[in-house]
Amino acid sequence: MTMEPRRILLTVTGGIAAYKVPELVRQLQREGHEVRCAITSAAARFVAPLSLQVLTGATVRQDLFDPSEEGEIDHIRLADWADLVIVAPATANVLGRMSHGLAEDLVGAVLLATQAPILVAPAMNVNMWNHPATQANLELLHAREVNFVGPGVGELACGWEGEGRMAEPEQIVAQVRVLLGSKSLVGETFLITAGGTSEPIDAVRSITNRSSGKMGFALAEAAVSRGAKVCLVAGVTALPTPAGVERVDVESALEMRDVVLAKLGSASIVIKAAAVADFRPEVREEKKIKKESLDPQAGLTLRLVENPDILAEISASKGSRLVVGFAAESEDVVQSALRKIKKKGCDLLVANDISRADAGFNVDTNSVYLVTPDGEVEEIPLLSKREIAAQILDRVEKLRNEKPC
Ligand code: PMT
Repeated sequence: MTMEPRRILLTVTGGIAAYKVPELVRQLQREGHEVRCAITSAAARFVAPLSLQVLTGATVRQDLFDPSEEGEIDHIRLADWADLVIVAPATANVLGRMSHGLAEDLVGAVLLATQAPILVAPAMNVNMWNHPATQANLELLHAREVNFVGPGVGELACGWEGEGRMAEPEQIVAQVRVLLGSKSLVGETFLITAGGTSEPIDAVRSITNRSSGKMGFALAEAAVSRGAKVCLVAGVTALPTPAGVERVDVESALEMRDVVLAKLGSASIVIKAAAVADFRPEVREEKKIKKESLDPQAGLTLRLVENPDILAEISASKGSRLVVGFAAESEDVVQSALRKIKKKGCDLLVANDISRADAGFNVDTNSVYLVTPDGEVEEIPLLSKREIAAQILDRVEKLRNEKPC
C-alpha cells in the first residue's frame, strides 16, 4: 500500500532558504503529489515565480487582488483545493501573522481559510527564533495543532550559528508522509533494528559489516507514516533519524541486545533488519594494540566467541507480539530461509539474496522473499527499499489481523 497521490499547496515566504523550494517541489512530485505554489512578494525576491510555474505547470499565486489570478482559481478555492498546505520557508513574520490570523496578502488569506492540515518549516536567524515573541507565536500555533518540521541547528545564512536552518527537503517530505499516511498502524509500537554492529578488537579497531541501515530506516519511516510509534535501534550507520522516530544508537551486538530487551516490553511489533555480528573478539584490549609489540612471524590471533542470537531469544517468548526477522543469504535463498525461520522462531522472515549487486547490503534497492513458518513463500521483485518496506508492512498488517494483540 504506497501513499495515494495528494494535492499539496506549497506557500513560500521571504527567506534565503527559499532557494531550496524548487528541490522540495521536485521531491514532492516524485512521491506522486500534485503541487501548486503561492508565494509572498518577499519570497519572489528569493525564488523566481517562473521556476516554480515551470516545475508545477500551474500559475504561481501571489496577488490577492489580481483579477486574472483570482479568476483562474480564487484564494478560497485554492485553500479548499489542498489536502495539505506547507509553509516553507516560514519566516518569523509569517509565524506572527498566522498566530494572529492576519490575512492581508494571498498567503495569509489561504493559511486562514484552509481546512487542510498545515506543515510549517521555519527558517530564520537564531535570535529571531529564540525571541519571546516568536516563541509565544509558536506556542499558539502548536496549540492549534499546526505541524512543524525543524528548524535544524547549524551555520545560518546570516553568519550566526544555532537553531534556525530550514529542514532539508527530504525531512519535509518525510513529515508529509507522516501527515498524509494511511494511519493503518495507529496503536502499534514498533521496535526496529538497523545497520551493522561493530565488535571492538581494541581502542580503535573493530569487526563490522557493510550494512548501511537503509532497509531498517526505510521500515521505520514507513511505520511512522502509517501512524505507528517507532523505536529504532541503530547500529553503525551514517543515516539521519527519520522524522517522528525515537532513535537509540548502539555499537556492539551485546549493546543492541541490552537495548532491545529494555525496549521490548512496550513493543507490539519487532523487526530485526540489523546485520548483527554472529561473533565478537573474546577480549577487547583497552589500549590500541601496538604493531611493534607483535611478533611479525606469529601475527595476531583473535579468538572469537559467539554473540547471543537476539532474534531467537525474543521469538522464544513473543506471546502476542509479532516478530519479523531478516535473513541475508548468498545461496539457496528460499531453502536457507525456510530452515532459518524454524531455527529463529519468528512470525515472518524477510530473506534477501546478498549475492546480487542490486540487493541486500549498502544499496538503495532490494529484492526479497517473505517466508512464513508454515512454508509459504512470496517473492517481491526488485524495488526501492522504501517500496520493499511498504510491502513488508502490508504483510505485517495482514499478520496482525490474523494474530491480534
Ligand atoms: O542495512 P542495508 O545496507 O540496507 O542492508 C540491509 C540488510 C542486508 C542488512 C538487511 O536487509 C538484512 O538482511 N538484515 C539481516 C542481516 C543478517 O544479519 O542476517 P542473518 O541471516 O545473519 O541473521 C538473521 C536474523 O537474525 C536477522 O534478523 C538478524 O538481525 C538476527 N540476528 C542475527 C545474529 C544475532 N546474533 N542476533 C540476531 O538477532
